[in-house]
Amino acid sequence: MRRNIAAGNWKMNLTLKSANELAVSINNLEINDNVDVILGAPSVFLANIVELTKDNKRVNVAAQNCHQAEKGAFTGEISIPMLASIGVNQVIVGHSERREIFNESDQDIKEKVDALLLNNMTPIFCCGEPLMIREASGQNDYVKKQFENSIFHLGENEIQKLIIAYEPIWAIGTGKTASPEQAQDMHAFLRQLISDKYNHDIAENISILYGGSVKPANAKELFSQDDVDGGLVGGASLSLENFGPIIEAF
Ligand code: 13P
Repeated sequence: MRRNIAAGNWKMNLTLKSANELAVSINNLEINDNVDVILGAPSVFLANIVELTKDNKRVNVAAQNCHQAEKGAFTGEISIPMLASIGVNQVIVGHSERREIFNESDQDIKEKVDALLLNNMTPIFCCGEPLMIREASGQNDYVKKQFENSIFHLGENEIQKLIIAYEPIWAIGTGKTASPEQAQDMHAFLRQLISDKYNHDIAENISILYGGSVKPANAKELFSQDDVDGGLVGGASLSLENFGPIIEAF
């Protein structure tokens, strides 16, 4: 069955001390059995955060990116075996900031998804349209293409291992959240796409998270939508004060 997930994406924020403190305070929360928490920490802090949360079944640690090659001359990059060797088993791939600022293509993301699955890791696959596309009502076709280009080559056994995060770019860091209806419409569309391509059971079992200005004030309503299984949270995941109530919003 699909899980409720509160995932934080810390992006390029915090320092060792503040990251550790935040991880410890989240680790100490009473987290409901029906919720999984994911902490998307910067690479340099991953090993620490894994260590701090290792006895907590409700808290998992994700990397924010990885390279698709197993090893080699890629200065500054981080491989999947490196992440596996420090106990990380989930990786965010295809975040719009990676796509837009670092020019990652659908093909790059496809290769990362493949490499992660090959290493028994969970890809947290991000998708979502820019404002211009939304204004022209082209969001469904746009995200469908992202699925076709990066994940729809996967077999039935593989696709089920993904977590999907729909993050409309116009809602990221802007304070402009998608309305619960907009989120639900897109999530239902994506679930239907997966059902058409694979089958109903697979579609029903995949967690689809919403991301883009999720806050304590809007999390409950967003997460209560039928096809919204949680959130991928940026700014509001950086403090216990904000992320705590989001974890409790299911
Ligand atoms: P914000 O929650 O800051 O809008 O960021 C969303 C996001 O990009 C999470 O990956």
